[in-house]
Parts: sequence; structure tokens; C-alpha cells
Amino acid sequence: MGVPIIAGNWKMFKTVGEAVNFVSELAGRVAGIEGVEMVVCPPFTALAAVAGQLRDHGSGIALGAQNMYWEDEGAYTGEVAPGMLKEIGCRYVILGHSERRQYFGETDAVVNKKVHAALVHDLIPIVCVGERLEERESGTTEEVVRRQVEGSLAGLTARQAAGLVVAYEPVWAIGTGRTASAADAQQVNRFIRGLLRNMFGEIAAQAVRIQYGGSVKPGNTAELMAQPDIDGALVGGASLEVDSFTGIIKNAL
Ligand code: 13P
Repeated sequence: MGVPIIAGNWKMFKTVGEAVNFVSELAGRVAGIEGVEMVVCPPFTALAAVAGQLRDHGSGIALGAQNMYWEDEGAYTGEVAPGMLKEIGCRYVILGHSERRQYFGETDAVVNKKVHAALVHDLIPIVCVGERLEERESGTTEEVVRRQVEGSLAGLTARQAAGLVVAYEPVWAIGTGRTASAADAQQVNRFIRGLLRNMFGEIAAQAVRIQYGGSVKPGNTAELMAQPDIDGALVGGASLEVDSFTGIIKNAL
């Protein structure tokens, strides 16, 4: 496994001013921390300003976007192209978040196009998968996650796959305060690692960093991160406050 990766998905929160203040404070609080990769994913409107702020602080905090379109450019009103994200300093892009799947109709085929496009532009995809409550309760978690992983990552080479981040985010744990137990999260992350092994071979499967996401807080981070197949966290609500995000980063070490 590579360096663990803690990413904050801000979703549709924070103005440019709030975002800049946040990262300037965060940079001070996490200065000197090594051994964990830190990423913030602000809304599109704040990306450029946050990129500048992170550079000024020499912060070691990387920048990610929350979504993108797959075409290089064109008449796609309202969309943002991969090269535009790269230009302003994004290193990561979250793709296929369950909120994109649920509210904006993203399918595995759409996510797959975006993953390929991101890689062409040297952006690292954070590919999200995870079952809904009724799927877990009906015992189809593995079937759902298998379909999402195989569909979203179809057609990649082993070398491309090795650089990916996959985030397992059970939908019922997102924003609900109901975290998956460390054992349940580990079980699915391990299952995902097995799928990656079947698709891309052992070396690539070991290199992929598999995050857990869903009500991650400072208090549950250490136990989650202690699991052998949990290589990081994708954090929503608790990434919006400097105190809690810093606590998560420190407890991930
Ligand atoms: P919460 O941490 O708010 O549950 O959100 C998780 C998430 O969706 C991160 O992408």
C-alpha cells in the first residue's frame, strides 16, 4: 500500500472567501505532518483561489475537484473539462460519488468515461462505489460493489489502475452519523481489493489505495485506518471544520 490518503469532500459548501480562510488555517495546523497525504476538494468556484493559497503556504495539501465531464472541450453548457482542472492545479478528481449517481443520473458507463478522461489528463481519479441501505439489507452488497467496480474501471491497463484511489462509501453511512463498523468496512474494502486483483493483477491491486467514506470523524478514524485494506478516508461533514479535519488527519498517522 502507498501513503494513506485523507481527502475532504466539501460538497456544495463554502464560498471562495470561506474556502481560502479554511485552507490557510488548515495549512498552519498540519504543517510538518508527514506520512499521510492530505487532499481538499472544494466546489469548482473555489478551486483556483484555494490552489493559489495552498501554493503560497507550500502546504503539501493537494487539491481535488468533485466532478468533471469527459470531453476535452465543446458545447456542453455547464460542464468542466479535465484539462481545465489540471490547469488550475488539481491533482485529484472525485468521480462517481453516490450523490452524482443518485441526483444526476451517473451510471457506471458514465463514470468509466470520466475515469479514462481523467487519466489522459494526468488527474488521479478517486472512484466512489457503495451500496444503498436496501441493497445491504437484501444481502446484495457484494454484487452491487462488483458491478460498480467492474463497470467504472473497465478497459484500464494494470499500470493505470495501480495509480487509482477507490473510495468505498456505503450510501447509508453518508451524512447519517451511522458509520460502518471497522470490520464491515474492512470486509468490503478487502472484497474490492480482490476484484482489483482479478481485473489487474496482484501488483496493481496492492498499489491501489482504497478509502472508506461515510460519517468518518476524529473518534473513529484510528480504528478504521488500522484495518489492513483501508488506506484512507473520504470525509464529508467532518472535513468542513478545521478542528475535526485536522483531528482525522492526525488520527490517521
Ligand atoms: P460524510 O462524511 O458527511 O458522511 O460524507 C461522506 C462522503 O460522502 C464523502 O464523499
